[in-house]
Amino acid sequence: MKSTSTRSTRQNTSNFSPSEVNSFIERESSRRQSNKVLHGHPSPMHWKPFSEPVQTLLEKRADYARSSDFSVNLYVGTPFCLKTKPARCGFCLFPSEDYRGNSGVESYLDILEQEFEMYKPYYGRDKLSSIYFGGGTPNLYRPQHYGRLMGFVDKLYEGVPDDIEITLEGIPQLFNEEKIKAIKEAGFNRISMGVQQLNEDLIKYSGRKQTRQQVYNALENCHKYDLVSSIDLIYGWPEQTMEDMLEDLRIAVDAGVHHLTHYELNVAGRSDFASKAKRDLLPSIQTNKEMYRRAKEYLHSQGFEQETVYDWKRKPESDENQRAHRYDYEHNMHDFVRHEQGDIRQTQQVCGIGFSAVNFHVNGVDKETDSWIYMNHTSLEKYVGKMSRKEFPVDRGFHYNQHDVKLAWLFQSMQTMKIDYVDYRQIFNENLLDTYSAVWTDIDKRGWIKTTDRELQFVDDGQYYIPMLQALVASKRLAQIRDERKQSLQNIEVVTEIG
Ligand SMILES: C[S@@+](CC[C@H](N)C(=O)[O-])C[C@H]1O[C@@H](n2cnc3c(N)ncnc32)[C@H](O)[C@@H]1O
Ligand code: SF4
Repeated sequence: MKSTSTRSTRQNTSNFSPSEVNSFIERESSRRQSNKVLHGHPSPMHWKPFSEPVQTLLEKRADYARSSDFSVNLYVGTPFCLKTKPARCGFCLFPSEDYRGNSGVESYLDILEQEFEMYKPYYGRDKLSSIYFGGGTPNLYRPQHYGRLMGFVDKLYEGVPDDIEITLEGIPQLFNEEKIKAIKEAGFNRISMGVQQLNEDLIKYSGRKQTRQQVYNALENCHKYDLVSSIDLIYGWPEQTMEDMLEDLRIAVDAGVHHLTHYELNVAGRSDFASKAKRDLLPSIQTNKEMYRRAKEYLHSQGFEQETVYDWKRKPESDENQRAHRYDYEHNMHDFVRHEQGDIRQTQQVCGIGFSAVNFHVNGVDKETDSWIYMNHTSLEKYVGKMSRKEFPVDRGFHYNQHDVKLAWLFQSMQTMKIDYVDYRQIFNENLLDTYSAVWTDIDKRGWIKTTDRELQFVDDGQYYIPMLQALVASKRLAQIRDERKQSLQNIEVVTEIG
């Protein structure tokens, strides 16, 4: 911990008094939290338009890669989704563009291929540890496209390891047998299907034209072709009752799904579900909390293991199959740095290619940090515009200071419902029990945490409130980021006036 400026940053932004903690929790625990699905630090709303030359960052990263031993979780973005009424399925907070036919898809694939080629000098030697084709709706591609997509990865990395998790995301009605067969033949080994609701009356709120039978068929196809199956369900949906939620879980479990993501509905932004009319139909926060508890009891009783606040895996039948149903793309990042030779080295990175894809590189922490998160354009027009000028299609990003890297690590760790404070001390040379001590004391009194000789473990309602507790530990740093932003905007105004 050398730099005094970063040390004072830490002191200012991680010290909380007992009354600050208490009033934050009293105020926020009765509100809907808006960070339920995206849980990194800081959230993209704090990132700035990117002025940094991407080539320079990539060259520094390549230098770092020569002396480091990390592996890469590759994300490949797809923009398109079937149009719905209300727009964006009524609830979705992810960027997407309406599907307008196959010719748009073909043009996008051509551009995506060029982006893969742009990364050849920088990413070509990396070691892959998982791949996720997300969106949007990547199963809108036609059967012949999956081999092509895998070919892009194969060419960039000079081979795709056959023992890593390779996921393709999509919607139930498009996973027909012909497509699943093509997906399997192209080398994918895991399907992540957004189902949200199995109740055919309730799914109508999203405008998605999807039936329960299509979900069964899609799962059956996955299992027939030996693909790991995962489905996303949402609870806290308009007019959903406890019985509806339990029924959805029962159907999914009985259909043999290997992995489940059970998100609480995130009500935010300008989505239809955030409108007054739909808000009035939502279960109360108290009911959501109870749903979380009952879902947990049910999934445990069915032999599922909880991996994070929201994701569950079916216990594999044999010991040698322990990783079979794990969600590596998510889990690899829960422990993304280690301490080595007086510095902090990244063990896992995220590299993103395509529409709205994110890159996350932590290159040193104790020394001057050169750590970034940045995102490609979330407008297809702008993405295509930059690519046609042969520029990296990056839109905005965030430069981490030392304290931000710690917060990013804490957020990832909290997602697993425990924090290994011995690891934290070893990596960051700081006693976590002292830092934020008012937070741990307060939530201990509420019965939300248990301390062992190695871990802080979130228990009972403490697990449900993890998104709120993440927001709490980051709250002062986020206020500082907002202030810095305001200050720099004011400076720009002054310069413009003088100019
Ligand atoms: C990027 S989306 C794509 C999945 C796929 N296109 C689909 O619609 O089924 C991934 C998952 O995020 C979850 N999600 C998106 N918006 C959400 C929200 N507002 N609240 C809770 N979960 C959300 C959904 O469960 C969704 O399946
Ligand atoms: S939920 Fe899926 S299909 Fe619906 S808008 Fe979001 S990404 Fe597209």
